[in-house]
Amino acid sequence: MEAIILAGGFGTRLRPLTYTRAKSLLPILNKPMILHLIDVLPSSVDRIILAVNYKKNQIEEYFEENDCGREVIVNDEPEPLGTGGAVKNAEKYVSSRFLVLNSDIVCSLDLNEMIRFHKKNNAVSTISLWPVENVSEFGVADVRENGCIVGFVEKPKPEDAPSNFINAGAYCMEPEVFDYIETGRLVSMEKEVFPQIIRDTGRFFGFKFDGYWMDIGRISSYIEVHRFLMRLKKIDNCQGEKCEVHGVLKESCIGDNVFIGENSRLYSSIVYDNVVIEDDVVLSNCVVGENCRIGGFSNLKNVVLGDNEVLDKRSNVENRLIWTQPIPMGYPDKQVGNVIGE
Ligand code: GDD
Ligand code: MG
Repeated sequence: MEAIILAGGFGTRLRPLTYTRAKSLLPILNKPMILHLIDVLPSSVDRIILAVNYKKNQIEEYFEENDCGREVIVNDEPEPLGTGGAVKNAEKYVSSRFLVLNSDIVCSLDLNEMIRFHKKNNAVSTISLWPVENVSEFGVADVRENGCIVGFVEKPKPEDAPSNFINAGAYCMEPEVFDYIETGRLVSMEKEVFPQIIRDTGRFFGFKFDGYWMDIGRISSYIEVHRFLMRLKKIDNCQGEKCEVHGVLKESCIGDNVFIGENSRLYSSIVYDNVVIEDDVVLSNCVVGENCRIGGFSNLKNVVLGDNEVLDKRSNVENRLIWTQPIPMGYPDKQVGNVIGE
């Protein structure tokens, strides 16, 4: 069985981390986000098609150097084709029923159970559903008691939301779904394809599940997923190799070759590889990119440092994204794709 993983897009809400890195390669507990997903795919998935555009070479290199135990095809889009266009672009690699997965989700969904539910209902398409309070940032399903979805609205205003069950970003699909997607243009799965399949077939289903679900779309949820997984695994912190820690880590995660000076304290913070944090520094809710240096006696709260940034001693910063280098060519200055209220 094939699984298409949607791993394109710039990840603008995660900048400046995504100025230098594909969103799907951002580490969660020192392991690329996309591997968390690949590791929970059913064993029946023997081929993974990564639908990518931005930072394609980085993703390709990662999978050339790291074997994930399954065939991986990195399928490029010269221009972003949207969630639907990316699926259509992978059609040539798909032989029968297939899975589609957003790459920025961490959850407890059992895909085997979802596939069984899909077969039982003779569905054309089944999507995973998760209940949330703030539906406006997601796609929302109008779902009947038996799981049949009769309407779907992407990023509705709260008053227009048909339910509080949102598209949790994992789909099981029959190949006829490809017939609903035009070739070679930007197509939104959620705005164009889902509503059409619902109208034409009436065999569009939603699979609800228990446990946890998180969308790693923004910095706050990126930090939160670390905290959540550490609690789930009952660990207080996470450290890569060759670190020297003289301070204290609380619900924090550091990569390889990180130096933490004396009396420095990290609370709910993430530090990438090759970082030096001098003495008497306090970080709360921060992300520190690769090769950064933070001068002693600094105090940072809700701060994200892009790769290679250096902060002077006694820096006192709150609520800031720090990036002093040129913004990469072609990186959009606003979110593209499934924007709220578009
Ligand atoms: N290949 C490719 N090409 N992938 C893309 C493109 C593209 O042009 N645009 C987005 N993606 C990928 C993203 O990398 C992500 O894994 C997935 O498609 C969804 O895109 P997001 O930009 O993260 O969308 P979202 O979070 O605003 O909304 C989506 O996810 C929600 C759940 O987290 C929608 O599917 C919503 O309906 C859903 O509720
Ligand atoms: Mg997302």
